[in-house]
Amino acid sequence: MDVLTAIASRASAIKLAAPGPTGEQLDIILKAGIRAPDHGRLSPWRFVVLEGDKRKILGTAMSALRRRLSPDATDEEVRKEGQKVMRAPTIVAVAAHTAPPGKIPEIERIVAVGAACQNMVLAAHALGLGTMWKTGQAAYDPEVKKAIGFGPHDHVVGYLYLGAPETPGVPRESTLDGYVTRL
Ligand SMILES: Cc1cc2nc3c(=O)[nH]c(=O)nc-3n(C[C@H](O)[C@H](O)[C@H](O)COP(=O)(O)O)c2cc1C
Repeated sequence: MDVLTAIASRASAIKLAAPGPTGEQLDIILKAGIRAPDHGRLSPWRFVVLEGDKRKILGTAMSALRRRLSPDATDEEVRKEGQKVMRAPTIVAVAAHTAPPGKIPEIERIVAVGAACQNMVLAAHALGLGTMWKTGQAAYDPEVKKAIGFGPHDHVVGYLYLGAPETPGVPRESTLDGYVTRL
């Protein structure tokens, strides 16, 4: 699939299923990530791959976060929060590592990792896989980050859910109207 077709036809999956990417496909996806532009060649990307039962590490942390943030949540609500990780057979947690500080501003390091995420999503799509890009409170909570091995200088840019596109998404209509100024 050429890149313009991939961009035009990509959409977030509605429902994902097994199987997840093979080892070879995952390598292609991760390598697509590190082909992103990266000011200063700092390689700010960090990837944590969660497959099979390892997804539960994130799920347990997400449940605990829900309990902490919503003390009135029912046990069922807390359980459901943790079950979200089962939406895909494979999750890649993608973070921008922003230490040590230096000449390249933090925002540029984070943007580079955003570009890495988009490369990964497009690569997965070109391989026939479906993707969902998730964040939410689980992306910003220090305890959740710690549970999967990220530290205070790692900013989660996305949890990329990868799997077979059981229910693929429909690409949005795109319009430039209202977003472009020509001077
Ligand atoms: C930084 C970032 C964070 C996102 N976080 C979420 C999220 O937490 N939950 C979600 O359902 N979608 C999330 N998305 C996906 C967008 O909602 C989705 O791309 C958007 O609805 C457009 O749909 P499309 O991907 O099908 O074009 C996120 C996307 C980005 C770029």
